[in-house]
Formats: sequence, C-alpha cells, structure tokens
Amino acid sequence: MKSRHDPVGMTHEYDAVIVGGGGAGLYAALEASRGARVAVVSKLYPSRSHTGAAQGGIGAALGNVEEDSPEWHAFDTVKGGDYLVDQQAAMILAEEAVRSVYELENMGLPFSRTAEGKIAQRRFGGHTRQHGEGPVHRSCYSADRTGHMILQTLYQQCIKNDVVFYDEFQTVDVILEGRRLAGIVTVELRTGAVHIFRSKAVLFATGGFGRLFKVTSNALACTGDGPAILARAGIPLMDMEFFQFHPTGIYRMGILITEGVRGEGGIMRNGAGERFMERYAPTLLDLAPRDMCSRAIMTEIAAGRGVRGDGKVDDYVWLDATHLGREVVETKIPDIADFCRTYLDVDPAEKPMPVQPTAHYAMGGIPTDTWGQVTDGGVVWEGVYAAGECACVSVHGANRLGTNSLVDLIVFGRRGGQHIRDYVKQTDRVDLPKDACARYQRQYAQLTDGKRGPHAGPVYEAMQDTMMANVGVYRNAAGMEKALRDVQDLREAYLELRLTDSSPTFNSDLLGLLELRNMLDLSLLMAASALNRTESRGAHSREDFPERDDTEWLKHTLVTLENSEEPFGRQPVRMHYRPVDISIWKPKPRTY
Ligand code: FUM
Repeated sequence: MKSRHDPVGMTHEYDAVIVGGGGAGLYAALEASRGARVAVVSKLYPSRSHTGAAQGGIGAALGNVEEDSPEWHAFDTVKGGDYLVDQQAAMILAEEAVRSVYELENMGLPFSRTAEGKIAQRRFGGHTRQHGEGPVHRSCYSADRTGHMILQTLYQQCIKNDVVFYDEFQTVDVILEGRRLAGIVTVELRTGAVHIFRSKAVLFATGGFGRLFKVTSNALACTGDGPAILARAGIPLMDMEFFQFHPTGIYRMGILITEGVRGEGGIMRNGAGERFMERYAPTLLDLAPRDMCSRAIMTEIAAGRGVRGDGKVDDYVWLDATHLGREVVETKIPDIADFCRTYLDVDPAEKPMPVQPTAHYAMGGIPTDTWGQVTDGGVVWEGVYAAGECACVSVHGANRLGTNSLVDLIVFGRRGGQHIRDYVKQTDRVDLPKDACARYQRQYAQLTDGKRGPHAGPVYEAMQDTMMANVGVYRNAAGMEKALRDVQDLREAYLELRLTDSSPTFNSDLLGLLELRNMLDLSLLMAASALNRTESRGAHSREDFPERDDTEWLKHTLVTLENSEEPFGRQPVRMHYRPVDISIWKPKPRTY
C-alpha cells in the first residue's frame, strides 16, 4: 500500500513541553509557564482528558467539617498502600494537598459548600481520624464532577498564561542523548504529519492504562503511551504489578460509580441483601480501602452470594443508595444518577445499582523523585519528568486511597512545573540527532510495507481477556504464566498487523495500532512483575502466596524491557529493586 502520510519532520522549539492535557499536565504547564515558554501536546482536547472522569473529590485535611490533620492523611495513605509507600513523599502529598486545594479555590474552582460557605468535605475509603479510629470527612468535592471542574479551571488559567496547545497530537517517541532529553516525536492526528518538539524539558502526564483490561472505568484514550515510550527508550518502570480495581463499576460496562456514594452513606449488599462488608472490615465497613472491598465482592460472588447476571452465574453485587433519599441523590451524586438512568434504566433513589470491580488505576509507572524528575533511584534522566497517574513517586504503594489520584496530580503536577521553571533557566537545548525520528519511521514502515495483515481487533480483545482473567483482583502463578505466554504470543501476532486505512486525515487505524503496541508493552511488564512478586500486598493478591512478606518483599520493583529497540515481538524483561522509605511509621498488619 502506498502511504500518503510519510513522516515529514516539522520542528518546534520550546523551553518545556508537557505531554498530556489532564490535571497533572495542566498544573505543570501552568506553573512552568510562570517563567518559561511552554507547550502542551495532547492526543485529546484537554477538557476531554480522563481527569474529567474523577468524580468523588480531592483528599485534603482542611478540617472544615471535623478535626483533621495532614499527618493523619499521610498515615492513612501509607497504611492504605500496605506500607509500600515512600513515607516522606506521602507527607509532602498530604501537606501540599491543603495548599493546592486553596490555590484551586482561588483560581475559581466551584467547590460544593458547607452551610457556612466553606469547601464541603465528604468521607472516602480508608481516610480516617486519629490513625484509624473511624472515617473522617476529608474529600473536597464539586458534587460528583470534581475532576471535570479541575480541568476547566486549570485550562482557563493556562490560556491566560499563554501556554500553547497542540491538541490531537499523539506522542510516539522520546529523543534522548544519553541520559539527557533532546525532545519528542509526535504525529498530528488531523494531517498524519510528524512534528518534532525540541525542548529543554518534557513532562509526561499521559494518565493511566486501564484499557489493558476488559472491564475498566478508564476512557478509550487510557493506553499508557508515556510509560510505554519511556520503557522502549530503556527507562525502567516501577511497581507495575500493582493495579487497582475499583469496587463499584457499573456491571459489565465498568463505568465508575464514585466511592462518594458510599461516602454519603451508600451500602454494598450481596444477593441475599446482607451488608457483607461487616465480615471483612468491621470498623470502616463500606469505607474500607478499595483492594479490600474488591476482594470482598469477588469472595461473595465466588461463594455463591452474589447476584445472578446475564450469564446465569452470580457475577455482581448491589450498591444501595435508596435510603439516602432523592434530595441527596440529586444534589450530591447527580452525574451518577444520570449514568444509572441512561445506561441501566435504574433510578438510584429508588433501586440499588448493580456493580462489580472495574480496572481503575495504575499505582505503578514512570519512577520519579518528589519533583517529578525521572530517576531509577540513582541519577535522574536530565530534563525528563513525569506526573499524575503515569508516574510512580511513590505515594500509592500497593493500593491507592480514593481521592489521592487527584491529590497526586495537583501536588506533583504543580511541583513538576515549578522544578521545570527553574531547570530550564540553567540549561540549554540539546542538538537533535540526525535520526531523531528513526524509531518511529521503522515502526511506520513495518505497518505500511505493502503486505496485507489481519485486523488488530482480535489482538486487542485477547490482551484484555487474558489480563482480566489472569492478572485481575485475585492472581496465582498458573494464571499469570498463562497471561505472560498469551501476551508474548500477541506481540508476535502484532508483527503481522498492517495499516489498512491509508488516509492521512484522522487515521484512527494508525492511532489504534500505536496504542495497541503501547498496551502490549505494559501488559508484558505488568504480568512479569506480578508473577515475580511472591507475596500478597495491597491490590496484588495471590492465592498461592496469601501473606504479606516484609522480610523479602518490602521493596519496589523496577522492570526494564530488554532489547526494546527492534523487532517488537517476544521480549525478555529484567527486574531490579529499590528500598521503600519507611522512615516515619514501621510496617504493621493492616486491619480496618
Ligand atoms: O470513586 C471515585 O470517585 C474515584 C475517585 C478516585 O479514584 O480517587
């Protein structure tokens, strides 16, 4: 097939480029723009980024409803993460959450309000007073549209600060000179043209990769582009085995039903109508951390105490908000009520919602320090930054607490932008190598070599099926070995795929193939890291190793894609480890 959109190589120069227009990217761009020329390169229009799907709120110890403290928040974060959290980083998260929320308020974010006019706060899973005594009101929210409001607020501020936006540009590669950034390679989706961005710093804020799984709360765009690009450039990824399943996705569809429903008093019930969390978390009940709630649901279902779904097997449970009354449903969770009416024909003020765990959040990703600089624990990659879900600081450890995703992206997006603002003043741009686009050109040439290939759909579906079945809420060696074999086979199958649409304009066939390759890289790294960790911790729950093992496994995994250059196909991976910062609280058994 003759291609009409071979790379042409247009070059743009900035001090800093931010890849991704979600909350982390926009906050970083805003901060960096206070002293640097900044561009945001995003595959979506920023206001369509997946941050917009974050419903329930931002955890910050404002103490507007009852006494609270950042130290309690940091402790809950560490305990919720099953002690794999770096503890000084968790203190930064909790302390700077307060300042960041007020900064957003000052920018005009329309938070919901208490009767006295303060920012309203609700309860959320794993957030407690006095180190676990009981649930605390910590989540600052804007009804159930908090993420959406963050996007609107930050986008407006970026426009005001003359940040330049390149919307609908897919980033396909990073250009490094040794351990120093030179730029990135992107494809303009509207024209198919290749654009190079030469800059002193790049911050990846490309979000999560829930699309590796069949049932997910993540948008179609959440394909892990940033981590996969850096992994192919030889940078290790951290703690990839830890992937969170949110307990309450809409049955079969996976669309998120916010934990805010339980924060407002909603209750999960099994097929017999029992409040089953009494058996699993007697103190926090439905507000236990997500890993525990998801396992509780799966255990109820496996024991035949779920609700019978379309497949005539028990495969979901109920989330009951009927006792909250219509006023609460319509004012505190209006979008949820709307989703349920639209997708399920269920009015949550009158009937319970059918829910099941849904792949929601990557705790692992690109390893960074607390200023967003990419590092493997030793030296940094100069000028390379990451923030938000694609990064691993690490503040979520083995299991993230609800609301801490938004906290992470505002705190570390902001810090990353601040660091970039200073860094670009002290450094020059690096010259681009002659073959800056070579890796992408080889990939593109292979996809368009004139051979006919099968459709990518079955490869994508097979990847999602095996990851869901074998690297899901419960895991064991046999399942994960199967997932690894399947993923390696699918990587071979990928080599047969070819571009079938030769149009240069909005070529979704090309975009899909690029994203699929990213997902196959991350599936491999996730399955291999999960099989390697022979213990259970947080969201990584192994039937064959059911206990946490602090003697052997109180450490971060760093996984590197070996021979990542070419060809794609089967690839080995290599593990090494990094210590966890436990300088504040000693690890203890986790009870709620
Ligand atoms: O349940 C929720 O509203 C999701 C929030 C989060 O993932 O932090």
